[in-house]
Amino acid sequence: MNDVKDNKRKIYVLDTTLRDGEQVPGAKLNLGEKMEVARQLIRLQVDMMEVGFPSSSKGDFEAVRAISKIIGRDITVTALGRAVRGDIDSIYESLKEAQSPMIHIVLGSSGVHIQKKFNKAPEQVLAMGVDAVKYAKGLMPNVQYSLEDASRSSFEYMWQTIEAVVKAGATIINIPDTVGFAVPEEFGHLIFRINERLKNLNPNVLLSVHCHNDTGLATANTLAAVRNGADKVECTINGIGERAGNTSLEEVVMGIQLHADYYRGYTGVKTNEIYTTSKVVSAIMGIDVQVNKAITGENAFAHSSGIHQDGLLKSKEVYEVIEPETVGAPPMELVLTARSGRHAFIHVTQKLGYKIEEKQKETVYTDFLEMADQKKEVYDYDIMMLMSKYTNNGVQREKAIDLWELIDFEVIYNTKIPTAMVKIKKGETISCKTKEGYGAIDALYSAILEAADLPVSLLEYRIHNISRGKEGLGKVSIQVMYEDNLFEGKAIEKDIIRASAIALINALNKVVQEVAVQESKNNGENL
Ligand code: KIV
Ligand code: ZN
Repeated sequence: MNDVKDNKRKIYVLDTTLRDGEQVPGAKLNLGEKMEVARQLIRLQVDMMEVGFPSSSKGDFEAVRAISKIIGRDITVTALGRAVRGDIDSIYESLKEAQSPMIHIVLGSSGVHIQKKFNKAPEQVLAMGVDAVKYAKGLMPNVQYSLEDASRSSFEYMWQTIEAVVKAGATIINIPDTVGFAVPEEFGHLIFRINERLKNLNPNVLLSVHCHNDTGLATANTLAAVRNGADKVECTINGIGERAGNTSLEEVVMGIQLHADYYRGYTGVKTNEIYTTSKVVSAIMGIDVQVNKAITGENAFAHSSGIHQDGLLKSKEVYEVIEPETVGAPPMELVLTARSGRHAFIHVTQKLGYKIEEKQKETVYTDFLEMADQKKEVYDYDIMMLMSKYTNNGVQREKAIDLWELIDFEVIYNTKIPTAMVKIKKGETISCKTKEGYGAIDALYSAILEAADLPVSLLEYRIHNISRGKEGLGKVSIQVMYEDNLFEGKAIEKDIIRASAIALINALNKVVQEVAVQESKNNGENL
């Protein structure tokens, strides 16, 4: 039975990034990388973690064993196997030192699996499942049974199987939409029917769902299941997984949180760890998160329409249903483009410490629009350069925090020792450094970071074309970590090395601003 708080059921969250997620082509991780993801999932406070398929290889077995040992009592750790004794033995051996282990068995229940994959009679497959559960139960008290391809199975056969495996000792019944075939209303209804019978049979057995995203409905199907009684959801970070992926953990968790009354549920996930977890998984697996991905995409909290920017500046709730801080994302971003109105433009200039005289506002704004037409997106550094054109000519710095400016740089690239020299300035301070690196960008970034003398670490560096042709524009987006906080920097330039330098300067300036704000708060001032 799940815990009840404020009349709401606890919805258990199982993360399978390290099993279903890791099956993605190109996402194979080594042990160190898996451990890093596992540590972050522990910080995220999921209820259960599926960490591998131990009978598939010695490497997977060792990884499951190592990871299961760092997971404490509060998180159930599980690993997958087929309904055969060899697989179950591997799971047991790899998990036996864990504090809260669970065996996970999968066996097909649809006609197509039974006939085409196993070439057996349905009763024979059912008996295999019961046998496997009895065997697993003799090894560990917690056993999850998954009816593979459940959404394409006959209801009565599924129920016969569920009844038999629950009697054999299964503690969780998992209903996968293995091929992403289900649609929300129908899947919700299926879960409702199963749940009604299951809770009559044994109210302590949890009903779980595991959806794939082949038609883009994994989140919708999972939430429909929750609304119809599912106690547990299986998800991955960023929705990665076999083919089109699994249900995205961040979408389901935030969906439940946003509509807690509708779903009559809550999860134990520490939502402010969501964004970092997404970044860690994407960086380690080398799989980018699509920019418009719900909750964790680069544009999830970025606003570029003039009407929206104006509305947001009046009140955030006009266009924001989730505060970025709730998921640990950097604050809402107003992306200045040629569609941005005067209100948004002036807001950004003021944030950077500039005051534009009334009589000069129209001229400066027109100049900004011209720049925005050329660059597509205008970032802080571009504004600083624009403002410098008007210094002592209608633009003043007021109560300004000094920010870094790039005065000069040189990158010498060769295959032996790439080297970069940078000269940067903040207020009256000029700092010049030369560093070597593994490549041009590494040398450049080492030189800037040493010159700025800020202890930040680079979490993400991305570069892509935003227009065609070899003279097109390159966009660099980076994220740095400073004292457990993420800061973003972006730049668009024709020269990607210059874009890289300015993106880092933009990120460092955000750190400088944040440090100044914190210091003034500590001193009781209002910056
Ligand atoms: O998609 C699927 O059916 C699975 C099961 C092992 C739960 O991944
Ligand atoms: Zn799956």
